[in-house]
Amino acid sequence: MMESTLNANYTLQRKGGVRLWSDTIRLDERLTRIIRSLDNPCGDDLQILKQGLRRCVLRITRNHVTPPGLIVKAFPLQKIESRLKYKRYGLSEALNYIHAAQLNLPTPEFHGYFQYHSLGTVKANGVLIQDMKDYQTLHDLAQQSPQEKLPILSLSIPVIQQLFQAGANHIDTTAHNLMISPSREKTVVIDWQYCSFHQPEQVDQLTLQAAQFLRYTDMTETGTPDWTVWLKELYNQCRPDVDWQIFRQNVSGLQSRQRASAKSRLSLKVSMPCNEAQ
Ligand SMILES: Nc1ncnc2c1ncn2[C@@H]1O[C@H](COP(=O)(O)OP(=O)(O)OP(=O)(O)O)[C@@H](O)[C@H]1O
Ligand SMILES: [Mg+2]
Repeated sequence: MMESTLNANYTLQRKGGVRLWSDTIRLDERLTRIIRSLDNPCGDDLQILKQGLRRCVLRITRNHVTPPGLIVKAFPLQKIESRLKYKRYGLSEALNYIHAAQLNLPTPEFHGYFQYHSLGTVKANGVLIQDMKDYQTLHDLAQQSPQEKLPILSLSIPVIQQLFQAGANHIDTTAHNLMISPSREKTVVIDWQYCSFHQPEQVDQLTLQAAQFLRYTDMTETGTPDWTVWLKELYNQCRPDVDWQIFRQNVSGLQSRQRASAKSRLSLKVSMPCNEAQ
């Protein structure tokens, strides 16, 4: 699934070096200007949600584009090497959003993919997605209500279960990348740059996703009883084809080890601390 997927499924618009594949968003002057100046985003219709050297997340608040409320997640590609490997950045995020939607996974709605071409290379690319306005990350919600931390972090379990059942190996399933509605009834997964798709119900995928989630909470197996409660609940919901003790030891072992590379996690080629045959 590459650019041909976009060409086959979305209308391509071009303006001032910007290409936008979208059926819902019009590439007007304002949007073109925003995409051309991602290095230094400004305007009273823009809210900067995150700005780093490699990524920037903007909210267009008073846009002339439809639908109202749009998030621009962009990858300003500074280095020549990243420009040549632009597919790994915004394009990968776009294709994974499309694939996730086809699998009916809960995500913000995907509205389009853009590339800004300059001097023969891709200077920036990224996705346009639905603004989950009143949603909050599970991380922020748990910080806000520390006394409810376990029930809040447990809201991730049905979503991780859906990823497991769909074989969607999103490798950054942390509380920062799960956003929850005010009623706490709906959760969406964001940040799809790194994901691979496999046969459903891969035990190693679930083990890695559980370890990734727990790594970025302050829960550890030996330090917090909540760790076991959370993991047991995940195990009981998902029913992976592995013994509980093996699953528990592998998650705990992975969490305490240095994190494996993105490449090995994407290919599910991470050696597990505890081998069932032992
Ligand atoms: N669709 C959205 N609606 C509302 N807010 C969003 C949306 N997408 C992202 N955000 C906000 O922007 C933040 C960063 O987004 P995202 O995780 O996609 O970027 P990132 O650079 O890959 O993040 P990180 O490296 O910090 O995980 C999110 O934590 C969230 O607060
Ligand atoms: Mg993120």
